[in-house]
Amino acid sequence: MADFDIPEYRVSVDQLLPGVFIRLERINWFNHPFLFNSFKIKDETQISILQSLEVQQVICVPEKSDCLPGKPRAQRAAPVAKAAPPVESTLNELWRIKHERTKRLRKKKQRIAECEQRYSTSIQSIAEVMNAVTTGDISAVGKGRSLVDAMVDSFLQDIESTLHLMSVMTPVETVYYHALNTAVLSLMLGRDVDLHAKTMRDLGMGALFHDVGKTVIPKKILRKPTPLTKLERERFEQHPALGVDMLQYSSGFPPDALSIIYQHHENMDGSGYPQGLQGEEISNLARITAIANVYDNHCNQLNPAESYTPYQALSYMFTKQRTWFDKDYLALFIRILGVYPPGTVVQLSNGALGLVISSNPNNQLRPSLVLYDPEIPKKEALVVDLSEEPDLKIEKSIRPAHLPAEIFDYLSLRTRITYFVDPVGS
Ligand SMILES: [Fe+2]
Repeated sequence: MADFDIPEYRVSVDQLLPGVFIRLERINWFNHPFLFNSFKIKDETQISILQSLEVQQVICVPEKSDCLPGKPRAQRAAPVAKAAPPVESTLNELWRIKHERTKRLRKKKQRIAECEQRYSTSIQSIAEVMNAVTTGDISAVGKGRSLVDAMVDSFLQDIESTLHLMSVMTPVETVYYHALNTAVLSLMLGRDVDLHAKTMRDLGMGALFHDVGKTVIPKKILRKPTPLTKLERERFEQHPALGVDMLQYSSGFPPDALSIIYQHHENMDGSGYPQGLQGEEISNLARITAIANVYDNHCNQLNPAESYTPYQALSYMFTKQRTWFDKDYLALFIRILGVYPPGTVVQLSNGALGLVISSNPNNQLRPSLVLYDPEIPKKEALVVDLSEEPDLKIEKSIRPAHLPAEIFDYLSLRTRITYFVDPVGS
């Protein structure tokens, strides 16, 4: 790309050349076959297509162009090849791609809506079980079993939609969500570690109830926005032991899952609590849950403005907290989620904002996105596969809380579902 330090200007289509970056104006996105309203002219056929659409002028963006527009064709001294007529097949192909992208988004939204419905149902069940356990009815724990079986059957079948939902939840929903997210993420990791079905169930149960001890910690400590005092910290750090006290005599709770409750804050380097265990001293299942737990805590902070993006959370865990985790499990976790997990909001090199909807197994840096474009209605939002757009790349990920509400709403792809969750325990 040449470095033309001149402002944008309007230019006749007749002056366009391959390499000029243009922005279309006065033509609705639905009335042209190009995927974008702004793009770099690739060949003469594209110029011919613009002419066939009777577009007279476009905006030239010198900063992004390889060359500047030339003289009108008729005035060019050197003989130039006549612009190729719009090739019917190219035009048809462009429209086909554009329609296919829209259809793909509709299917994706449908899957997300179904997944959200399952999440909603699971949250209801978790709320009921947690409330029962909090009031002393530990027999309710047994219901968690069928919940975990349902999780394996449903959420692990569509990891993309599940990760998407985890990233776009609103803060009021985080309490039971943390239990559900941690369990689902642990199960994703557990499945790829090739755990036996019975062990998977233990993992799911332990992860679901990992913080059950917090239900007896004062809310003013749990929700304190400023750093805890030494005494408050000591009280807080009792929650693993309190959780074990609550469930160790419950016939419905698998004994092998107790280690998850007791050890989910232990770190591989011995810096965790309550016992300061190291390496192999920590159970396999607790090591798996610790990764899921920390990841979800990073992404869903008490103050949403402080929440990390999935990309930031994984980067932080890998660079700053690596010694806390089992290194093989952490590497596997990052591989499962991808560099930009579905649900990550990103800014592209052309300034556009997008939301990752699926990762590309062959190139983690080039996932598929849905793009924010106020000129295109939300339900027709454009899906772009970055592996097919060499001119575009991801510049950075953006915290959802930093996005204006209308952009977040546009990108979240969510249908509104109301959660009738009893706030007790939140
Ligand atoms: Fe915890």
